[in-house]
Amino acid sequence: MLNNRIKNFDDYPFRRLARLLDGIAPPMTLSPVSMAVGEPQLGMPDLAVTAMMAARAGWGKYAQNGGTPELRAAIAAWINRRYDLPTGFFTAEKHLMPVPGSRAGLFMAALACVPEAKPDTNHKPVVMMPNPFYQVYYGAAILAGAEPVLVAADAKNQFLPDFVGLPDEIWARCAMIYLCSPANPQGNVASPAYLKQLLTKARQWQATLVLDECYSEVYDHTPPVGGLTIAYQNGENLKNLVVFNSLSKRSSAPGLRSGYAAGDADVMAALGRVLDYGGTPLPLPVQAASVALWHDEAHVTAMRAHYRENFARAQAILGNRFGMYRPDGGFFLWLSVGNGEQAAQKLWREAHLRVVPGAYFAGNSWQPGGNGKNPGQEFIRVALVHAANVTEQGLRRLVDVLG
Ligand SMILES: Cc1ncc(COP(=O)(O)O)c(C=O)c1O
Repeated sequence: MLNNRIKNFDDYPFRRLARLLDGIAPPMTLSPVSMAVGEPQLGMPDLAVTAMMAARAGWGKYAQNGGTPELRAAIAAWINRRYDLPTGFFTAEKHLMPVPGSRAGLFMAALACVPEAKPDTNHKPVVMMPNPFYQVYYGAAILAGAEPVLVAADAKNQFLPDFVGLPDEIWARCAMIYLCSPANPQGNVASPAYLKQLLTKARQWQATLVLDECYSEVYDHTPPVGGLTIAYQNGENLKNLVVFNSLSKRSSAPGLRSGYAAGDADVMAALGRVLDYGGTPLPLPVQAASVALWHDEAHVTAMRAHYRENFARAQAILGNRFGMYRPDGGFFLWLSVGNGEQAAQKLWREAHLRVVPGAYFAGNSWQPGGNGKNPGQEFIRVALVHAANVTEQGLRRLVDVLG
């Protein structure tokens, strides 16, 4: 016997991609280039390796969920600096929970926040999310027993889903809203006014707004505004708000599995309990490396320069083909190619280049009466994570094959 909820979501996008490309022979005269996974290739900074080595005795110990006082202090200091919060508004004691990467945290947030049914309704709770979305939101919503409601985030609305405009019947059932800013895959940043309106609406309906800010440091010009700042600027506390971030993109350390949840003290406590039962505490040497990384900004500045160079090369090579635009944040190109699956197959067959069909990051959008479309269908997602010369090589092949 299996949990039948598992049947209600598709395989993970990279497994679907492997199936799509299975049996297609790429040209072996060309070296493979994968622009599929959003995995930073810069390498984790040496200062983290040094800190981890100094703390290596910790591999022989069980760590506790919740993190060491040093880790909590380092993350809290970074949050307070980055988001310009006054002393006492955000505290390491009440408003913070280290998580083993934001992915696990985002998943567990649904287990912590989704009830059997919303008070005063007997209906299945709803979890709203943008469409396209980070696939973990979708699986988490379903496994937590909720109905995912996918809200179109396409060029018509500057890639900002109109959650606030959904009917009251949906909001009455809403337990949680996921939003990613800067967004994966489109790279747009939610404005302060948008975030304020959404947080107000979430509070009105006693839902939790979960902001995925894991691309917050990968920006072109202006540091994206954070949810914690919005809560503070509006003279509010942190009720109904949780933000997630990690060192995966900021510090090019996706293998470290180190991130945080920050916000509503009640949600932090609930998340802490879920983590105690099902979470992997961050190993002590990982925590030591994380402390060193949260304290350093030089490597983060270098990381931004790297992605700016990649985007500059993308602009030079692609021009305005495929609706190419330079996003405010993140490191993806979201290219309109007609049919994303066919384009991904063609690129693999003719150029040994791996990209992901946009449809794999999306589903059918919510629409009154049903039958909303999959807004990812015509797109491919291209990750600009490699060194500039490899990025350039991949993009030249893309233009040669798709025109
Ligand atoms: C939008 C988004 N959220 C969360 C994550 C998870 O990152 P991590 O678990 O490495 O912190 C990713 C990783 O690709 C992502 O793209």
